[in-house]
Amino acid sequence: MKMNFEDIVPVRFTEGKLLLLDQTRLPGEEVYVEMETKEDVWDAIYKLKVRGAPAIGVAAAYGLYISVRDLKADTAAEFAAEVREIADYLNSSRPTAVNLSWALKRMVRTMEEYLEGCEEAAAETGGSAEEERKIHWVKEVLRMEAGRIHEEDVAACRAMGEHGLSLLKPGMGILTHCNAGTIATAKYGTCLAPIYLGHERGYDFHMFADETRPLLQGARLTSWELQRAGIDVTLICDNMASIVMKNGWIDAVVVGCDRMAANGDGANKIGTSGVAILAKEYGIPFYMFVPTSTIDLSTATGDDIVIEQRKGEEIYKMWYEKDMAPAGVKTYNPAFDVTDHKYITAVVTEKGVVYPPYDVNLRKLFEEEV
Ligand code: MRU
Repeated sequence: MKMNFEDIVPVRFTEGKLLLLDQTRLPGEEVYVEMETKEDVWDAIYKLKVRGAPAIGVAAAYGLYISVRDLKADTAAEFAAEVREIADYLNSSRPTAVNLSWALKRMVRTMEEYLEGCEEAAAETGGSAEEERKIHWVKEVLRMEAGRIHEEDVAACRAMGEHGLSLLKPGMGILTHCNAGTIATAKYGTCLAPIYLGHERGYDFHMFADETRPLLQGARLTSWELQRAGIDVTLICDNMASIVMKNGWIDAVVVGCDRMAANGDGANKIGTSGVAILAKEYGIPFYMFVPTSTIDLSTATGDDIVIEQRKGEEIYKMWYEKDMAPAGVKTYNPAFDVTDHKYITAVVTEKGVVYPPYDVNLRKLFEEEV
C-alpha cells in the first residue's frame, strides 16, 4: 500500500502515552491529543475525536489501561472492582458500535483470568500471593492485552483488504458511505482496505464518497484519506447516490459496520440502509465489511441493536456560521441505521467472504472458538 499509513494512525501508544488523532479537526488540521484520564477518553469517544467501530475499541482498551495504571488498592480484588467500574464508565460513551464493549469486556476478562491464575498458583504452593505484586503484574497484563487488540485489528484489516479485493475489478466505480478507512480502524480500514490494496496493484478505481450528514465523515474524512493516497475520489451529497447509480457510474458499494446481529442485519452510519436499498434497485452489489470483533451473535436481529441518538444541533448548527433552522424546531438525529440482511450481497470479514444465509454462515466463523 503506497500511502504512508503511519502518519495518520488514529490511535498511537508510544512511551506510555495514549495519543489520538483528533478527527473533529480534519481535514484542516492533523493534530494528536494526549489522553491522560478516563474522562479524556470518554469525552474523545463521545465527541468523535476517535470514531469508527474498530478504532473506538482500540482506544478504549488503551484508555482503560491508562485510567488504572496509577491506581492504588489494598488488594487485587479491590483493584479489579475499580477496573470493572471504569470499564463500565468508558462503555457508556457510545452505545451502537459493539467494538467498544467487546474490547472492554476482553480487557476485564483477561484481568480476571490472570487473577484466577494467581489464586490457583498461590493455592498450589500453599502461600498467599503478595497483593502489591499481583496488582503490579495485572497492570502489565492489561497493557499487553490492549496492544494485542491493536495488533489484531491491523492484521484483520489487512486480511479484509485481500478478501474484499477478490470481489472487485480494475476500473470499477465504487460508492462508499461514512468513513470506514484507515482512521476508523487501527490501520488500513475495513471497506477502504481493498481500495488501498487495489490502488497499489494498479486497479484504478473511481471512488464516490457520500458526504454523510450530519457529521460529514464522508466529506471530511473519506475524501481526505483517499485524496491523500492519490486515489480518484468524487464527493457527492447523500441525496445524489441515486443519480450516480442511475448514470451507471457505480459497480459496487462498500461500507463498514458498527454492529452486525446474528442474522446479518448490520448497523452502520445513518443513511447506509438507504444506499443499500438503492443498490438493490439498480442491481449493484452491496458489500459490508465486518471484522469478527464487530459481529455480535448475542444480538438476534437488527431490531435489538441500540441506536445512538445525538443532539439536534449537529443537524442545523454545527457546521454553519449561523443556525440553519428556526429556533426551537424539533429534531431527530439517529447516528446509525440498520441495513436489513436481505440487501447485503456479501459480508467481508478477516476470515473470508460470507454469503447468505447469514444466520447460518456468520455463526460458522466462530465455531472453532465456541
Ligand atoms: O459515528 P462514527 O463516525 O463512529 O460512525 C462510523 C461508522 O459508521 C463506520 O462506518 C463504522 O464504524 C465502521 S468503521 C470501520
